[in-house]
Amino acid sequence: MDTEVLNVAIIGCGWVADWHVQDGFAHLPKRFNVLACCDRDIERAKQFAERYRVERVVGDLGEVLSMPDVDVVVICTPPALHYSMVVACLRKGKHVVCEKPFVASLAQVDAVIAEEAKSTARVMPIFQYRFGDGLAKVRHVIRSGLAGKHYVSSIDTAKRRDANYYQVEWRGKFATELGGVLLTQAIHIHDVLLWLVGPVQAAACFKTTRVNPIEVEDCAVASLQLHDGSLASLSATLGSARQTTRLRLCFENVTFEKTGHDENSSRPADEPWTVIPRVPELAAAIEQKMAEVAPGSAWFVRQYELFHEALASGAPFPVTLADARASIELVTGLFAASESCCVVEFPIGADHPKYNGWFDAPLYTNDAGA
Ligand SMILES: NC(=O)c1ccc[n+]([C@@H]2O[C@H](COP(=O)([O-])OP(=O)(O)OC[C@H]3O[C@@H](n4cnc5c(N)ncnc54)[C@H](O)[C@@H]3O)[C@@H](O)[C@H]2O)c1
Repeated sequence: MDTEVLNVAIIGCGWVADWHVQDGFAHLPKRFNVLACCDRDIERAKQFAERYRVERVVGDLGEVLSMPDVDVVVICTPPALHYSMVVACLRKGKHVVCEKPFVASLAQVDAVIAEEAKSTARVMPIFQYRFGDGLAKVRHVIRSGLAGKHYVSSIDTAKRRDANYYQVEWRGKFATELGGVLLTQAIHIHDVLLWLVGPVQAAACFKTTRVNPIEVEDCAVASLQLHDGSLASLSATLGSARQTTRLRLCFENVTFEKTGHDENSSRPADEPWTVIPRVPELAAAIEQKMAEVAPGSAWFVRQYELFHEALASGAPFPVTLADARASIELVTGLFAASESCCVVEFPIGADHPKYNGWFDAPLYTNDAGA
């Protein structure tokens, strides 16, 4: 049977929208056709359309939602706009893919979950750092039980952002970016940690702004207690001389390590990972387990392949609303812990003072999508 080609519309034709096409749809022409693009800066949308030969160019989400032949809307706009756009798409029966950070609060994630339940359409949040053969193998060993008990993990996100980066109007402010390094950069690696050894049971955190003259945090450290009593430490900065991400996961039978520099700092799922068995006798069993994972594609391509398969079969998406909720819950807990200098217990429920958001500034919305 032929695979169905899904018509896609991309909303927000900036930096990350290029990745969705170059590192995703361009590799999957039998599954996706980028039919429309939309940006309130119409010149930017036109240039995007020219780069990727996109047939339709519009300046407003409402115009996309009135196109009956658009199957999937991909939201690549600044963070404060995600919620209203996701809801507008669901109400028009369009499947939605939405960039991170998914929305601005746990209350908003729960509202999207309720909207999805009423809609014929489905939502997939983006966490493309998850996808690649190296991490797939590590996760397979952990899930098989062979790694044994998780003891402790340390996760570093050391990125570099200078004044140039903050020239884009929406960055650096709570009302538009919603948060800093914890929300915008480290959210990916923290999602990987939660995917491997979560959920979180309790968190402590310090955060500060020291690198750039911005409103949101650009340095943070946190300690986590996980559901099984094991521990993790997180550090995140936007002031690193060299961009580096580092994961070290220490289990009863094996330690997994991954360091990525420069461009590879965004690709923690790629091979190689360093896998150190506790005793040499375990090496063969771990290697055999890792060999059970068939090699596949990575990053956006893999997430979109799995998205297409899941839409066809009705299976869960490779990143679910529950995953987006866990990432927003972690940020909520870290902000609450930092503000109160107290340990915050998870899960964070609707009665928590930060359930409706981790900052007080009013959200900026420039869209009339909803
Ligand atoms: N997954 C990743 O690794 C990754 C990387 C970078 C950015 N992001 C996320 O992607 C989102 C966009 O970031 P970016 O760096 O591409 O931003 P950007 O500023 O480069 O692009 C955003 C675009 O949205 C357009 N826009 C704003 N309001 C709009 C509206 N109402 N309707 C239509 N278009 C509108 C802007 O004109 C701009 O062209 C953010 O949520 C960001 O956190 C994710």
